Amino acid sequence: MKKLTSVLLASALLGAALAGCGGNNNSDNTVATNAPAGNAAKDTANSGSGATPKVGVAIYKFDDTFMTGVRNAIDAAAKGIATVDIVDSQNSQPTQNDKVDLFVTKKYDGMLINPVDRTAAGVIIDKAKAADIPVVFLNREPLPEDMKKWDKVYYVGAKAEESGTMSGQLIVDYWKAHPEADKNGDGVLQYVMLKGEPGHQDAELRTTYSIQAIEDAGIKVEKLAEDTAMWDRVKGQEKMAAFLGSHGDKIEAVLANNDDMALGAIEALKAQGYFTGDKYMPVVGVDATAPAVQALQDGTMLGTVLNDANNQGKAAITVAALLAKGETPTKDNVGFDITDNQYVWISYKKITKDNVADAQ
Ligand code: GAL
Ligand code: CA
Repeated sequence: MKKLTSVLLASALLGAALAGCGGNNNSDNTVATNAPAGNAAKDTANSGSGATPKVGVAIYKFDDTFMTGVRNAIDAAAKGIATVDIVDSQNSQPTQNDKVDLFVTKKYDGMLINPVDRTAAGVIIDKAKAADIPVVFLNREPLPEDMKKWDKVYYVGAKAEESGTMSGQLIVDYWKAHPEADKNGDGVLQYVMLKGEPGHQDAELRTTYSIQAIEDAGIKVEKLAEDTAMWDRVKGQEKMAAFLGSHGDKIEAVLANNDDMALGAIEALKAQGYFTGDKYMPVVGVDATAPAVQALQDGTMLGTVLNDANNQGKAAITVAALLAKGETPTKDNVGFDITDNQYVWISYKKITKDNVADAQ
């Protein structure tokens, strides 16, 4: 029941918020990595044959720290199982749709799509089904009704609620171990929230579940401010500077939906003298990117949550390659559990400076 409630909540939140989630960067350079050479891709008919399948991969935008890690993982794990053509959708759904059309024209055997706008998955599935090209989505979860359109549609990702809960728990552990964290001594945790892209399941659910975890631990909270910084480090810094301008020392914790925004916040805090002497602020993020791990070691970031780029990339290209060859993904041939015949869920993990090795 609890699971059902959270799924319903997720759908409601996403349904409500996703309308405005499209990108708008329309610049025009396409970068292909490890692309199939010339016309070779045109005359493939790999279903059932032993040949290496060709998989078109579209990332929502290359200029995203976490997705760059996933992209590199896809490229590395493709070796020997698929030839990948990885393209940048430049944060524009129309651009991504054009890339999908190109994959279809080139008669690739499979597609791996990180949607710009997850509600656009339905259209992509229609195109894929018409061309009989199996499609795997990753990182931005299609709506359940779209997933049901075809059995050759899969999703590889991580449970957003889980990462939210874990980031809240990192704050709980700190608050309980450090009575001085309640700077004004009112028994209430005054916090600010830096949100990712509105409508993205990871932004909506991390925001909700992180605070839920703090309240579940019996801690009263007061939200001083919340704003989106769109997963972006520079925007995170700007928003945090603004929060400090209006709330200053009243802020007792900073929660960010990802590490880039947390690192931006840390820059803004440093500019106000934090992290020198005994002026401290607990800041948590999600992803466990390399710069975040460095910040954990430096003592500026309190904690983060490992968003496992390696296993997400590996599972996604493995499933795509199998489908592209006309095979059915199973736990045995993928190496990860398959839920409801269509989903692969990769676990998150809490990371602090005590277990940074788990993230490296
Ligand atoms: C999230 C990740 C963010 C950002 C986003 C892109 O899972 O935590 O940093 O990469 O995906 O969709
Ligand atoms: Ca307080």
